[in-house]
Amino acid sequence: MSVENKVAIVTGGASGIGFQYALELLQNGLRAVTLADTDAAKGEEAVAKISNDFGADKVLFVETDVSVKVQLANAFKQTVEKFGNLDIVINNAGVMVEAIWEKMININLKGTIYSCILAMEEYFPKYKSGDEGIIVNTSSVAGLQEVPIFPFYATTKHAIIGLSKSLGTPQNYATTKTRVMTICPGPTVTPLMQDLENKAFNERYRALTGEFFKLVGDVGKPQTVDVVSKCMMKVIQEGSNGSIWVVENGEIYEIAPPDRKDMKK
Ligand SMILES: NC(=O)c1ccc[n+]([C@@H]2O[C@H](COP(=O)([O-])OP(=O)(O)OC[C@H]3O[C@@H](n4cnc5c(N)ncnc54)[C@H](O)[C@@H]3O)[C@@H](O)[C@H]2O)c1
Repeated sequence: MSVENKVAIVTGGASGIGFQYALELLQNGLRAVTLADTDAAKGEEAVAKISNDFGADKVLFVETDVSVKVQLANAFKQTVEKFGNLDIVINNAGVMVEAIWEKMININLKGTIYSCILAMEEYFPKYKSGDEGIIVNTSSVAGLQEVPIFPFYATTKHAIIGLSKSLGTPQNYATTKTRVMTICPGPTVTPLMQDLENKAFNERYRALTGEFFKLVGDVGKPQTVDVVSKCMMKVIQEGSNGSIWVVENGEIYEIAPPDRKDMKK
């Protein structure tokens, strides 16, 4: 699938990986993008940059906390009011702060579920411009392995895998014509990966933060956001429904989780 002339929403799109997603999509011919993010100041900067580089008619910022249903619904509504269509939803907004684990579940997981519901049940059927709608959900390598230092974050990212695998099935495609795919980035240079000590739950976990990068397989030179956005484009263009992609240490690869029978001890 080409993104040319399509309309996308990127949650958490005002900065970090999400903002790079918006740039990559526009460079590949996207007609317009909505950035749905809590950070109004970053949103304003992002809109100024995109307007300057691609044109003011290409972007909309909607101040949105994805964990608040009415705000997310408002971002979808404003998108179709301004751009007339909606074809691609990239659920990227996320936090990694163990002390606020209930809120983190609301943002990372419930926000993604609600966005999938809005896209598949309400907006793609009415507003997609082509044959298919696309959802890209954001997990992490922390969604594919144990992470002793950030167990509650890892839980939200494991849940995203289950959500995307279950929605990205032939049964759901038959009735929704929506491809649902997952990206699992490894450590990537953004504010999310900074100040890890203060993001751990308590002293006991804090003592382990020195081991974090070794544990999640980083080779000491975290990748930059442009590698992750290249992965996102590949996933949209080539990814099959339900597929799961890792992007780590600059490498992009698809994985096939084993059938449980193959995991028998
Ligand atoms: N950076 C990494 O190493 C890494 C690795 C694996 C997965 N991820 C995932 O990638 C996604 C993006 O992370 P990032 O590294 O760009 O983080 P980031 O902190 O740099 O950017 C996150 C963006 O999301 C926004 N945001 C936060 N809470 C929000 C909410 N409730 N509603 C809407 N927007 C909200 C922030 O304002 C910010 O613009 C997250 O889901 C994260 O878990 C990141």
